[in-house]
Amino acid sequence: MSTDTPFSRALGIEVPLICGAMYPCSNPELVAAVSEAGGIGIVQPLSLTYVHGHEYRAGLRYIRSLTDKPIGVNLIIERSSKKYLQHVQEWLDISLEEQVPFLVTALGNPDWVVRRAQPAGVTVYHDVTNRRFAHKALDGGVDGFICVNNRAGGHAGKLSQQQLLDEIGPLGKPMVCAGGIGTPAQFIEAIDSGYAAAQLGTRFIATSECKAHADYKHAIVDAHAQDIVLSEKITGVPVSIAVEAETRIVAENELPGHLPGRQECRGY
Ligand SMILES: Cc1cc2nc3c(=O)[nH]c(=O)nc-3n(C[C@H](O)[C@H](O)[C@H](O)COP(=O)(O)O)c2cc1C
Repeated sequence: MSTDTPFSRALGIEVPLICGAMYPCSNPELVAAVSEAGGIGIVQPLSLTYVHGHEYRAGLRYIRSLTDKPIGVNLIIERSSKKYLQHVQEWLDISLEEQVPFLVTALGNPDWVVRRAQPAGVTVYHDVTNRRFAHKALDGGVDGFICVNNRAGGHAGKLSQQQLLDEIGPLGKPMVCAGGIGTPAQFIEAIDSGYAAAQLGTRFIATSECKAHADYKHAIVDAHAQDIVLSEKITGVPVSIAVEAETRIVAENELPGHLPGRQECRGY
């Protein structure tokens, strides 16, 4: 396996491995540790500010004090709330002012982010779960795709790692494999199969750099694939969740057993 890929070259990093944005698990120390180790950590702005208590610019600067290697920022660009969108615009402005070199957009059309970011030399990748969304993102001018497969933590897609490679590969942009990677062998396999990088989430929660609760980390380490289901009962969008947690959340919140599906979109 070569670590020299279009992704690692574009960002000037040693290892084409991303620690994906995770609400609420992306604490600044985790983001910095991944970048410092040669991969790239992604800031989740709501996590940085709301969960971990940093003012946004100060939080970015704190991460910068821990590493001078490249970091990225995740912008969830859905337009359902005007107030939220204002925050996204502020986070984008500040990220550009603070010279963050990489943005990962999710949901919505990333064209307006691309128009602002690319002239500043910033690389923009968009989260996609199928070819239709990848086409839209391509029209918006993105540099590459985060291909979220059916094994991803958080809001997963429906297609497998290989199906996404086959469907989206012909569009000719670098692709990042997101979902189901937790071992060096799986990482190597993803790169050897044609992905330009891998984005890991769950595996990074179970690290000492992540500030998640120890019980959560143990549950991850102890879980098997059959303990996880893709559920639409929590947010209406398919989300990976342990069977036991799904049952508890539905019962505690008196959620209907099956909310109307928005199967094709992702949201956090
Ligand atoms: C707890 C959790 C929260 C997540 N939150 C976000 C998020 O806020 N934004 C985003 O774009 N992706 C989010 N993701 C997806 C991750 O960035 C990454 O793509 C995914 O975890 C990869 O799959 P894996 O967990 O199997 O490694 C989240 C994932 C998890 C597990």
